[in-house]
Amino acid sequence: MKEIKYEFTLKVFDDLKSFSGVEKKLIEKAISARENADAKYSNFKVGSAVLLENGKIIKGSNQENAIFPLGLCAERVALSSAINNYPFIPVTALALSTQKKLKKDEMAVFPCGICRQALAEQEDKFGNKIKLYITGSNKKVFVIDSVSDILPFAFGDESLI
Ligand code: THU
Repeated sequence: MKEIKYEFTLKVFDDLKSFSGVEKKLIEKAISARENADAKYSNFKVGSAVLLENGKIIKGSNQENAIFPLGLCAERVALSSAINNYPFIPVTALALSTQKKLKKDEMAVFPCGICRQALAEQEDKFGNKIKLYITGSNKKVFVIDSVSDILPFAFGDESLI
C-alpha cells in the first residue's frame, strides 16, 4: 500500500485592492452581474464573469425557473454565453460572487459540482488552466490557479475511451 497526497494552493486576499487591470475588472463584473440574477425561488443571487484569451469578459447570473431543476447557475450561464459567442477562444479565468452573509474570515461560496465539471471540460478542450476568483460579502478574494484543483480525478472525454 502507498499513500499519495494531493495538494493545491488557495490564495486568500483581504480585498479587491490587491488586484488591478483585467483581474480587477473581471471580479467587479462578477459582482455587478448579481444584479441580473433571477433568484425568486432561492433568494440567493449569484454573479459570474468569464475572461477569454482575447481579453473579452462575458457576464452571467443565476436564472431560476418555477420548475426548480431547470434553473441555471451563474457560472454556466456565463460560460455558455462565452462559448457560443467565441467558440474557438479559450476561457482563461472565471470570477464568482455570491451574496451569502459571511463572517470576517469565512470562506466564500465555491462553484457547485456541475459547474466544476463544465469548467473542467473547458480546461481539457484547449489544454489551458482556468483561474478562479471567488468572492463574497466579507470582501475576501479566494484565488485558485486551476479548476482541476477543486475537481481532482474529473470524469472527462478521455474517460469514455
Ligand atoms: N448557484 C449558482 O449560481 N452557482 C453555484 O455555484 C451554486 C448555486 C445558484 C443556483 C440557484 O439558483 C441558487 O444559487 C441556489 O442554489
